[in-house]
Parts: sequence; structure tokens; C-alpha cells
Amino acid sequence: MEENKEDVVTPFSIESGETGVDYEKLVAKFGCEFVKPEHVQQIEELTGQKPHHLLRRGIYFAHRDLDVILSTFRNRKPFYLYTGRGPSSAALHVGHMVPFIINKWLQDAFNVPMIIQITDDEKYLYRPELSYEDVQKYAKENIRDIIACGFDINKTFIFTDSSYIHRLYPNFIKMQKHITLNQIQGCFGFNGTDNIGKWAYPPLQAVPAFSNSFPEIFGNRNIPCLIPEAIDQDPYFRMTRDVAPRIGYLKPAVLHAKFFPALQGLNTKMSASDANSAIYMDDTPEVIAKKITSYAFSGGGRSLKEHREKGANLAVDVPFQYLTFFMEDDARLEEIRVKYGSGEMLTKEIKADTIRIVTEFVLEHQRRRSLVTDEMIEAFMTPRPLLVNNL
Ligand code: TRP
Repeated sequence: MEENKEDVVTPFSIESGETGVDYEKLVAKFGCEFVKPEHVQQIEELTGQKPHHLLRRGIYFAHRDLDVILSTFRNRKPFYLYTGRGPSSAALHVGHMVPFIINKWLQDAFNVPMIIQITDDEKYLYRPELSYEDVQKYAKENIRDIIACGFDINKTFIFTDSSYIHRLYPNFIKMQKHITLNQIQGCFGFNGTDNIGKWAYPPLQAVPAFSNSFPEIFGNRNIPCLIPEAIDQDPYFRMTRDVAPRIGYLKPAVLHAKFFPALQGLNTKMSASDANSAIYMDDTPEVIAKKITSYAFSGGGRSLKEHREKGANLAVDVPFQYLTFFMEDDARLEEIRVKYGSGEMLTKEIKADTIRIVTEFVLEHQRRRSLVTDEMIEAFMTPRPLLVNNL
């Protein structure tokens, strides 16, 4: 029976039942903590800003050591943000935008530096179909998209692993010395047929969480790091947190998001080989409307009569999920929740809202992306001290 199957969540695959991943179980299994309303309230007090809806709605829902980061900030000590992107395709889909949206918000709200790792090595090693040249091309396109999210040039450093490896290398080998093959196998599930680059890669995703990996930016200081990301990346930072104290470094804090669902439902995967499984940031309004109309899985009743009687099942409804991630208007979202959930509002109507919200989001992104120049890319990728008040 479907219900009895355990969810599978790794950096390489996500499998779940039709209502999506059981996050209670996952948090217990990974051993992280839930974000509590008190955390969101503290973020509001500390920054003086209304927390982003991704925080208010519990999409960023789990953490490790968020309290440490918040008290660091309360004591007027610096911290920095770190996130990354594996350049596996030229265009990002809307789900890929989620971590960048929250990171940009946190950067502005806390006024802190942001480090963004582009793992060209990772995607080349893990994707048999990609050539090194493909990945380099995608990296550049992806960096354009990331800059278009509005990161502050004075506070953001973006690098590709292949271009910055010389700086990362000392911490990379320190980590390698403290991790055995058995530990990597236990954490990532590789076996003897996997190439050795895959085995060796995980510590490279770890080292940007140590501030002294960036001598041009932080000098040799030990500054705490917060990593907002989707929860499938947790194994990398469990490993990092395990090794950090043994090499004299601070454990990074993490803030985990729930997964953004594929159009076909919460138990399906967005996949680059099926263009209809996701909305891409370079899709046209016509394509967006068609994808949502034809493919977005609906939790609405099977007939009008059934829908009016029972209402929609919001837990499996993809348009409702998309609105939860992207609709800023709390009042309208709540109205939709009540009316669609009770059957007063129809699938056709919630899809119209979803098409409107997603189209606005994508078009605005395309506009901002068109303004990103090669000079800007170079500026973001130049190692330099990042101007931040309390550093
Ligand atoms: N492994 C991530 C991916 O496949 C990329 C990544 C690198 C990352 N460093 C990170 C993601 C830190 C989150 C946080 O896209």
C-alpha cells in the first residue's frame, strides 16, 4: 500500500505519497528542529520588518541552530548567508527561485553578506549527459537569473567552483582528511560504480560554510554562517556540522524549505526532460497559461456536484500550493483557501488566479534579467571585501 511506503528524500531523489513528503517524519529522521512562531516573531523584532510570506506560511519550516544565528545578530555580531545552485539546465524553473527569494529577503532584512556557490563541478560529475562545456554555459545563464533576483552588489559574492577552487582547497582537504569512505556512503548512498568525483564532491559543498574559505572577503575571521535551502540538501550540512568542530570551525546553521511541487502533483518530480512538469523562468505567458490549465493537478471534485458538496482537497491541489509560495496577498489567499476549500470557488477560478500570479512573477523576472550585463556578472564574481556595517 502506498501509505505504508517510506518517503525517500536525498539530494538526488524525492519520493512520497500523493500528499507529498511527511515533514514530521523527515524532521525526526534527519534530527533537525521545527521553526516555531517565536522564531518568526524574533525575526520581525530583530529586523523591524514583516517576515517574508515564505517564513510566515511555514514554507521555511525546519532548522538547525537558527537560535544561535538570531542571538549572534541580537548581540550585534556578524553572520553571513550561503546558498548555491547546481547549473544543470539553462533556464531555472519557478521552484528553483524559492531559495534565492528568501536569501535576498534575509540579506536585505539583516543587512548581511551573501555567498553563492555555483557547482559546475557537481553537475558535470553527477549528470552523465552533460559535457563540461554545457555546464559552463548553464552556469553563466544561471548566474544571470540569480543576479536578477536583486542581490546587493555590495554584499554578494558569486563564484563557480572551478574558478575559485584555489581558495577553497585548504578547507577542502581539511574536511577530506576527516571523512571516511564509509561516512560518505552512509550519508549519500554511493557505491563502487559511482565515479570518484562524486565521492569526493560533498566536502566542496561544505567549505563555503566556513568564512575563512573566503580570505578576500572575510580575512581569516570565524564568522557564523546560515544556509537557507530546500531540505534535501540537509545531508551535506549534517556532514559539515559533524566535521566542523574537529577542524576548529563553527557549525553552520541551516534553514530548510519544503519542496515546491511539480505541476502533476505533490508526489511527482519536476524534471528537465519533461518540459510540462514545471514552469520555466523563460516561458511565455501563453505557455504558462497552457501548462497550468492543462497539467496543474487539481484537488477539486470530479464533478461540479461533488465539488460543490465536498470542496477541494487543498492538500493535493497544485494551484493552491503555487499560490501559497507566490501570492503575496494574505487576505486573497485566505479567501481562496476558504472558498475553494468549501467548493464555492471552482478549479477554473483558482487556476485563473494562479496563471495571473505566476505570469506576473515570470515576466517581472524576465524584465530584470534583461538588465543584467556581463560587467555586472564580472563584478559579482570578483572576490572583494563585502561592505557590511558590523563586519
Ligand atoms: N547541490 C546544490 C544543487 O544541486 C547546489 C548547492 C551548492 C547548494 N551549495 C549549496 C544548495 C548550498 C544549497 C545550499 O543545486
